[in-house]
Amino acid sequence: MAGDIDLRKYSMLVVSLSGSPTLKSRSGVVLEHARSWLQAHGVDVTALKIRDFNAEDLLYARFDSPQVIDYIEAVRQADGLLIGTPVYKASFSGAIKTLLDLLPERSLHGKVVLPLATGGSIAHMLAVDYALKPVLSALKCQEVLHGIFAIDTQISYSDNEWGGELDEILTERLHEGLEHFYHGLQRRVQARQPEAPEYFLKLAL
Ligand SMILES: Cc1cc2nc3c(=O)[nH]c(=O)nc-3n(C[C@H](O)[C@H](O)[C@H](O)COP(=O)(O)O)c2cc1C
Repeated sequence: MAGDIDLRKYSMLVVSLSGSPTLKSRSGVVLEHARSWLQAHGVDVTALKIRDFNAEDLLYARFDSPQVIDYIEAVRQADGLLIGTPVYKASFSGAIKTLLDLLPERSLHGKVVLPLATGGSIAHMLAVDYALKPVLSALKCQEVLHGIFAIDTQISYSDNEWGGELDEILTERLHEGLEHFYHGLQRRVQARQPEAPEYFLKLAL
């Protein structure tokens, strides 16, 4: 009976982490577009921004802070993560590192991660590959997808905090990356519930 089925087993959960310390954030605009795309495809997205955390909890690594406990639990339950970061000094932001440092070892085991980075020029377009991927790998993530890197001129702001437009090429690349991410999430749901009747998989996906 449909009423007896736990639909959580068939739903896809994603946590989106924004690592920009600024209120008007280009990487935040990219994350927001990704969130809309995923939600339009039936994925639940919990959007967490570094700015919403108590800075002292992050700097002093307060594992017992209620906000940090909620964050760790959200990541534990997620099938996948979107990690959005500006490039700072040829690497990802230090703010996002404080968030990742709070996660227990093996936190990303079995999850799929799509990194999204923005920078002032293409000079550091490989920052995600050489800097972020080893950190994700230390958290036992086996499926880090090719990151999407955008330069500032590809993103325009709107007046509101997160609004903004992506240029056509970036939109195309982002959607392509999200398709791969979505397929990774689908594989997670299927692995979680291999006997899921096709009907319920379609309902959830
Ligand atoms: C402190 C600081 C350091 C930066 N370092 C770099 C850098 O090394 N390479 C680069 O391409 N852009 C660099 N930028 C530019 C930002 O990465 C770029 O503007 C980014 O889109 C900002 O994202 P945000 O608006 O989400 O914070 C730097 C910006 C700041 C403020």
